[in-house]
Amino acid sequence: QGKQDQDMECSTKAHLVCMAAPAQGHINSMLNLAKVLHSKGFFITFVNTDFVHHRFLKNPESLSSLDGLPDFRFASIPDGISPFNDGDEHRQDIPNYSLAIKNNCPASFLKLLSAMNDPNSGVPVPPVNCVISDCFASFTLNATAKLGIPNVFYCPSSVCGFLDFYYCKELMERGIIPLKSEDDLTNGYLDTVIDRRPGMIEVRMRDLTSFVRTTNREDILLNLIIDETHASHQATAMIFNSFSELESPLLDACSSMLPPVFDVGPMCLLSQYIPNDSAIALFGRLNLWKEDFGCVEWLDEKEPGSVLYVNFGSMANLTSEQLLEFAWGLADSGCAFLWAIRPDLVVGGTALLPQEFSETTKGRSFITSWCPQQRVLSHAAVGGFLTHCGWNSITESISAGVPMICWPFFGDQQINCRYICSVWGIGMEINEDVKREEVARLIEKLMRGQKGKEMKKKAMEWQEKAFEAAKAGGGSWINLERLIKEIITKE
Ligand code: UDX
Repeated sequence: QGKQDQDMECSTKAHLVCMAAPAQGHINSMLNLAKVLHSKGFFITFVNTDFVHHRFLKNPESLSSLDGLPDFRFASIPDGISPFNDGDEHRQDIPNYSLAIKNNCPASFLKLLSAMNDPNSGVPVPPVNCVISDCFASFTLNATAKLGIPNVFYCPSSVCGFLDFYYCKELMERGIIPLKSEDDLTNGYLDTVIDRRPGMIEVRMRDLTSFVRTTNREDILLNLIIDETHASHQATAMIFNSFSELESPLLDACSSMLPPVFDVGPMCLLSQYIPNDSAIALFGRLNLWKEDFGCVEWLDEKEPGSVLYVNFGSMANLTSEQLLEFAWGLADSGCAFLWAIRPDLVVGGTALLPQEFSETTKGRSFITSWCPQQRVLSHAAVGGFLTHCGWNSITESISAGVPMICWPFFGDQQINCRYICSVWGIGMEINEDVKREEVARLIEKLMRGQKGKEMKKKAMEWQEKAFEAAKAGGGSWINLERLIKEIITKE
C-alpha cells in the first residue's frame, strides 16, 4: 500500500470514481469499464460496498492481481449489511440488502467523496473530476449534487432490460401491474400482450421483468427498479454496455428521454482491446468464488462445438426439483456438457446429484462450481450455452459466437430472453416449469439440429458486429472518446 500511496501523491491525472453495485455481474462489468478508462489515462478509484469487498478479501487469488497498479486504487464504503461469514453460502436477501444500501450508502459515499476532494484529509488522490456510477446505485446522486461533481450513470444491463424497468412506472399508473391476485400467475394473465412501448417490440406480461409478478404495490424490488431507472434523469449522461447494431431502436428511445446516451459495449470485448503495453491489460478480475481452470483443460480434449456449457450466473436459484430436471435433461440428451453449480445455486440446500446421474454421464460431463466463463465460452469445444440470460453472460456469448438455450430467472433476464429468441435469433427458451424432456429436446435441437445450425450462423454474424464495434477505432471506442471529450473532461 505504501508504494501505491507514493505513486498516487505524484498523480496529476483526471480522477474518476467508479461506484459498482454489489453483485458479481455488476462488478465485472464496471471493472471492465474502469480498466478501459484507466487505459485512456485516468486515475481510477474503484468503489465497492463493504459486503462484497469483504468477500473479495476472503478470496485472495482474486485480489492478488489487483495489488500495486499505478493510478488505480480500491475503496469500500459501509452498506449496513452484516459481514459475510464462513457458512453463509446461502445468505442472499436481495430486497433487504437493497434497502440497507439505499438507507446507508448516500451518507457513506458522501463521506468518501468529501475526503477524496479535501486536500487536507490526507487521502493521497487527485481531486475527483467525475463519478461513474452503476445506474442501480443512484445513491451516489446525493453526494455528487452536494459537491457539484458530474455523475455519469453506467448501465451494466441491456438497454431492453433498462427500458423494461423504466416503463414499469407507466404500467403501474395504468393499473396493469402489480397483479390483481396470485391467480394471475396461472390463469393466463401472463400471456396478455402489452401495448408496444416506445423503442420496444411487442411483448407478453411473462416477458416483463419478474419483479412485476407481485400483488403488492409497495413491493421493494418493483419500486426500486422504477426509482433507480427514473433517477437516471438526474445523471449527467448515461453509458450502456451495448452496441448500436444490437439495440438500435432501444438506444434511440433512451436518447429521446434521458440525458446524453453513449453505447460503449460490449465491455467484455472492449476490455480486451486495451493496448498490451498498458499496465491494466494484465489486470485480473474480482471473483466472489474461486475459478476452476481444470474445466478448460477438460475442454481441450473435446471435439470442436461438441460441448454444451451450462451456467446460471451469480444470483439465480433453483429448487432441488428443477436441478434434477436439468440434470436428467442433460443426461438424456447424450451431449457432452460442462456445468457450473454455484455453492448457493439450490435454494436452502446442497446441490446433490444422484449417483446414477454421475454414472450415466461419466466421460462426457464436467461439474464445477465457478469457472473462467469468458475463456470457456471462447473455447472451440463449446457449441452452445444453457444460460439464465444475465446480460454479461449474453454479451460474452455473443462475443464468442455461441447460440443459447434460455432459462431466465429474474430481473432483466425475462426480457433479455425475449430479445435473444425473437429479435436476435440466437436462442430458444425453456419453459419456466422446466421438464427434462424439453431440456433434452432443445439441447438436441441446438447441438445437432438444423435450427441449431441457423442459430450458430446468426450468432457468428452478431459476433462479427460486436467485434466491429469493439475493435480499435470501432463505434464503441468512438462513443467512448466522445463521452470523455463532451462529458468527462469538459471544462
Ligand atoms: C445479474 C443480471 O441478471 C444481469 O443481467 C445484470 O446486468 C447483472 O446482474 P448475474 O446473475 O450476475 O447478473 O449474471 P451475468 O450478468 O451473466 O454476470 C455473471 C458474470 O459472472 C459474468 O461476467 C460471467 O462471466 C461471470 N461468471 C459467471 C464467471 O466468471 N464464472 C462463472 O462460473 C459464472
